[in-house]
Amino acid sequence: MSIAKQDTAKKVTVHTLENMALKGEKISMITAYDYSMAKLVDSANIDVILVGDSAANVMAGYETTLPITLDEMIYHAASVVRGVNRAMVVVDMPFGSYQGNSKMALQSAIRIMKETSANAIKLEGGQEVIESISRILSAGIPVMGHLGLTPQSINKFGTYAVRATSEDEAERVIADAKALEDAGCFSLVLEKIPANLAKIVAQELSIPVIGIGAGPHTDGQVLVLHDMLGITQDFSPRYLRRYLSLGDEIRSAVQQYSADVKSGNFPNEKEQY
Ligand code: KIV
Repeated sequence: MSIAKQDTAKKVTVHTLENMALKGEKISMITAYDYSMAKLVDSANIDVILVGDSAANVMAGYETTLPITLDEMIYHAASVVRGVNRAMVVVDMPFGSYQGNSKMALQSAIRIMKETSANAIKLEGGQEVIESISRILSAGIPVMGHLGLTPQSINKFGTYAVRATSEDEAERVIADAKALEDAGCFSLVLEKIPANLAKIVAQELSIPVIGIGAGPHTDGQVLVLHDMLGITQDFSPRYLRRYLSLGDEIRSAVQQYSADVKSGNFPNEKEQY
């Protein structure tokens, strides 16, 4: 078997995730937006890399995820795919590329798959996006759903507070989750909803459910890379566990470099030709 074939054999697919969930093996998912980080993350054996539209926040500095374009998402996703061997790469469809027009949704999804070589797309919403999802699935493109806090609808909700705390909204999340599964989504992200509700959704669905701020009962967890590494420092929701204070480390390394340049300490004799 050639090396290329061995790599392909190890690649995480929708079936790998399905089997993991069946066996009760938790799925790890994390975001990445560029080649270098994707390569590092992939080498850490993460199962799924999400090229999230959170790129709008952490890469481009926008306040919301709304401004990022399809072209920009494609740029990030193609960069990520070039760094990945094993993980499944899922790409967020950006705001305005799929809502309300299923033909446009299919065209957007096809552009993502053709121009990035990613493995699946993710989009936000429930019953209102089923037509778009069905059309995308009909082209053989795996779709991951996203319910609960859906940041592309921030102007409708007005806040990033925890969602589905009322009985009505909780029932809608359950109904939407079932509709997404029935439509053929291979997986579902639940963002910032009560842990008990996420538990019910995970029990009622047979597809893998991945949580962010949705408690421990889902089939897997996802975090935004820049948040868990401590690169973003002004965002501290309760669910976020910071595994590093990389922001502080980067600042002090750059301060040291700048001081070395100014003092004439860099470059030294060994650092020249
Ligand atoms: O864009 C993103 O990073 C996401 C995750 C928070 C799930 O959608």
